[in-house]
Amino acid sequence: MKKLIVVSSRTGNTLKVANAIYEELSECDLVKTEKLLSLDNSKINTDDYDVIIAGFWLDAGHIDDFSEQFIPSVKNKKVILFGTLGGDPKSDGAKVIMDRIIESLDKSCNLLGHFWIQGKIALDVIELMYSHQPDLKDNKEHQERLKRASSHPDENDLKKAVGLVRKLLGE
Ligand SMILES: Cc1cc2nc3c(=O)[nH]c(=O)nc-3n(C[C@H](O)[C@H](O)[C@H](O)COP(=O)(O)O)c2cc1C
Repeated sequence: MKKLIVVSSRTGNTLKVANAIYEELSECDLVKTEKLLSLDNSKINTDDYDVIIAGFWLDAGHIDDFSEQFIPSVKNKKVILFGTLGGDPKSDGAKVIMDRIIESLDKSCNLLGHFWIQGKIALDVIELMYSHQPDLKDNKEHQERLKRASSHPDENDLKKAVGLVRKLLGE
């Protein structure tokens, strides 16, 4: 089965997870979502693949724009969805967003599975956040959330992601 990982990543977390999966799978290619969507992309044709593994990240409560455009365009494929987010991957909020992404998948696709992985929030993004919401600097709950995310994705996350994808593929 030929697999294509299509990954969107602004600060590197999702790409890190995608690369870990890529390195462990046979018959697998990887492309950035924006490249696949761009008109000058001629090398990759999704028709050549049986499985699309789409990696995205959470951007202000919704998935990144490239993935939001790409995921509903996939037709007649087995699909695995994974995302990274700064918040708690097991939270109700994360589930609601994943359900929304699943809902956006074309009905011709066969969803093999989906999962979230936690990802640190980049320093420049934190600075930008504080320029709009300076009160957050002194918000204990917010600081604890940032601290919890700051070491992810770690080795365990990468192992978990690879293990899950392998299991979903039956490999
Ligand atoms: C502009 C921006 C907005 C974000 N919004 C959220 C959010 O609403 N909820 C959340 O849990 N994490 C949020 N994050 C954190 C990212 O989802 C997290 O750092 C993710 O791992 C980034 O993936 P990347 O490193 O592949 O770009 C945001 C990050 C950025 C850069």
